[in-house]
Amino acid sequence: MNDLASLSSLRTPEGRALLDAVRDTDPAEELAVATRLRREHPAELVSAALGQARLRQRAVAKFGAADAGRMFFTPNGVEQSTRASVATYRAGRMKELGVGSVADLCCGIGGDAIALARAGIRVLAVDRDPVTVAVARANVEALGLAGLVEVHEADVMGVDTTGYDAVFVDPARRGGRGRIFDPEAYSPPLSWAVEAAGKAPRAALKIAPGIPHEAIPEDAEAEWISDSGDVKEAVLWFGTGIAPGAVRATLLPGPRSLLSSGLPDPEVRPVGRYLYEPDGAVIRAHLVAEVAQQLDGGLVDATIAYVTADEPRATPYATAYEITDQLPFNVKKLKALLREREVGILTVKKRGSAVEPEELRKKVKPQGPNSATVFLTRVAGAPTMLVGHPLG
Ligand SMILES: C[S@@+](CC[C@H](N)C(=O)[O-])C[C@H]1O[C@@H](n2cnc3c(N)ncnc32)[C@H](O)[C@@H]1O
Repeated sequence: MNDLASLSSLRTPEGRALLDAVRDTDPAEELAVATRLRREHPAELVSAALGQARLRQRAVAKFGAADAGRMFFTPNGVEQSTRASVATYRAGRMKELGVGSVADLCCGIGGDAIALARAGIRVLAVDRDPVTVAVARANVEALGLAGLVEVHEADVMGVDTTGYDAVFVDPARRGGRGRIFDPEAYSPPLSWAVEAAGKAPRAALKIAPGIPHEAIPEDAEAEWISDSGDVKEAVLWFGTGIAPGAVRATLLPGPRSLLSSGLPDPEVRPVGRYLYEPDGAVIRAHLVAEVAQQLDGGLVDATIAYVTADEPRATPYATAYEITDQLPFNVKKLKALLREREVGILTVKKRGSAVEPEELRKKVKPQGPNSATVFLTRVAGAPTMLVGHPLG
């Protein structure tokens, strides 16, 4: 959906009926369905409905089928919106901080505004793009949240946030050529968002997880969030009451949060019986030392984020493997070992190795009923293969 007229037409009784009719259309059938529907409905409405149905299908992964099936989207809006799991967690944190009202600056199609409202927080949602604003408004209405969310079309740089308990900024981070890594190239730039944060009692600024730690303001708490093992975003918090400079890794579902305790880098030690692969949020937050301490472990190499230990310990912050073999990097030797063990299902993981997992799998041609995991990495500087299996 690209314009306001399409959105309005989809919200009429005819548009709603068409949206229902095309909801589960298989992409392969789309042409036939469109031809049939055009006999009874305007062509623009039919294509708007089919386009919206496609966007809703894409949005299910972020919003779940029930909400995605009632919400409206633009292609950029689906892409840029915060997934419900992360938005709900963040809204919960706002609520715990005693926040009752938030100015959501750069609200997009309303991913965060919806979660904030559902947490019982009053929201002023602002975006400068007219279609996006109309979609956000349609979404809060569709989900019965219009009483808590006021949607405004404006440039956030001119919005007065006085009187709000907190400010939330989720800047646009995609340029014409993929993701933008320079925080000053965000729209609005990070420096503006930090200034806006300084004017509110509390604030949260969403940033790309790849942000260099040096770019994090000293008075912020930085949080990296992963969902089911995938790093989704980082947030700079202000006014949380936690020591400025604190760093946190939060794993969803859960949530499980690990806070920095200022430990030095872990020691390098020989590979023990267990290998732990820290969650991406832990690695991005530079909290591998905290996890190594919990596991009574050390690193396999000073530059590699694999923790090795002698004991199996349960931790939500890393996936544990039992290591059965350690070999210098040598494809022939690996092939022989896997043949001897009758390994047909091989998972290849790598850190600190340029070898492509698919290439390796082709070369060793795994065959047999057993499964194994091979880690291509460096151990004390030397290219190494560690073979093992995940701990149950
Ligand atoms: C990453 S999206 C926000 C997504 C939103 N949090 C969600 O979950 O749906 C960023 C939004 O910022 C808006 N934007 C960028 N610069 C802006 C500005 N100066 N004023 C208002 N909106 C702006 C864009 O139109 C875009 O919709």
